[in-house]
Amino acid sequence: MEVAVYETGERMAEAAAERAAQELSQCIDEKGRATFMAATGVSQLRFLDALTRNAGVDWTRTTMYHLDEYIGLPASHPASFRRYLGEHLIDVVHPGTAHLIDGNAPDPSAECERLGGLLDEDGIDVAFVGIGENAHLGFNDPPADFGTDTLFTVVDLSDTCRAQQVHEGWFRDVGDVPARAITVTIPGILRSRCIISVVPDARKAEAVRCALGGTVAPTCPASVLQTHPRTYVFLDSDSASLLDQQAVSRWRPGAT
Ligand code: GLP
Repeated sequence: MEVAVYETGERMAEAAAERAAQELSQCIDEKGRATFMAATGVSQLRFLDALTRNAGVDWTRTTMYHLDEYIGLPASHPASFRRYLGEHLIDVVHPGTAHLIDGNAPDPSAECERLGGLLDEDGIDVAFVGIGENAHLGFNDPPADFGTDTLFTVVDLSDTCRAQQVHEGWFRDVGDVPARAITVTIPGILRSRCIISVVPDARKAEAVRCALGGTVAPTCPASVLQTHPRTYVFLDSDSASLLDQQAVSRWRPGAT
C-alpha cells in the first residue's frame, strides 16, 4: 500500500486523478482496453472532476462498473448514484461501456447476479473507492463480510451510514434514506488489479486511522485495503490528521 498525504483536497484530487489516468492508459496500451469501477459520494467529486479533465485517457476503450447504489431510489433522485455518475463521469467522458446498477430492478438479487457475471468475465483493472465515516468500502458497512464468494450483494444500510447521507445533504431525514442497497462486495473490490482510494476531509480522520493504522478486521471494513498488493491511498492533511506521522513516511517517504 502506498499512502500519500497532500496539503489540500485540491492537490490530493489532482494527484489521484493523475495516477488513475496513468493506470487506465497503461492498461489500454497493454491490452487495448481498461475496466474500472467508480465510487460516488462527496469525497469523489474533486477527483472525478480532475480525472475527466485529463486529456490522456481514451475513454472509448474503457468499461465502467458502478460500485454501489440504493435500492428503490428513482434514478432521477438527487441522491441517486446513477444520476451522480451520469452527471460527473458518463455524460462528460462517455466510457465505451457503462454497467450501472439498477437499484429499481424488480429482483435485486438477480441484478447482483447479472452484474457479477459481467464483472467476473471482464475482470477489473482499476477500482476507485472512498472510505465512509464508518470506514465502509462501497456500501459494506461494519461488520463487513470479508469471506463472501459473490461479487455484488444486497446489504442493509447501517444507521451511521444513513446518517452520513443526511449530513452530506443528499436527504432531509434518515427516514428518507433507503434501508437497503446493492454493493460490490469486499472480495469484489479486492479483485481489482489496482485500487485508488480517495479520502479527503477531517470527518474521515478516524476512519482513516482505523483503516491504515489499525488491525485488519471486519469492524473496520477499509482496513482490508492493507491486504491488497496494489493500493494507493490519497489523503489530505485533514483526513490524515490522526495518523502516526512516522507510519505515513514509511508508507511513502516524502509524499506530503
Ligand atoms: C459512499 C458511497 C461510496 C463511497 C463511500 C465514500 O456512501 N456509497 O461509493 O466510496 O461511501 O463516500 P462519501 O464521500 O459519501 O463518504
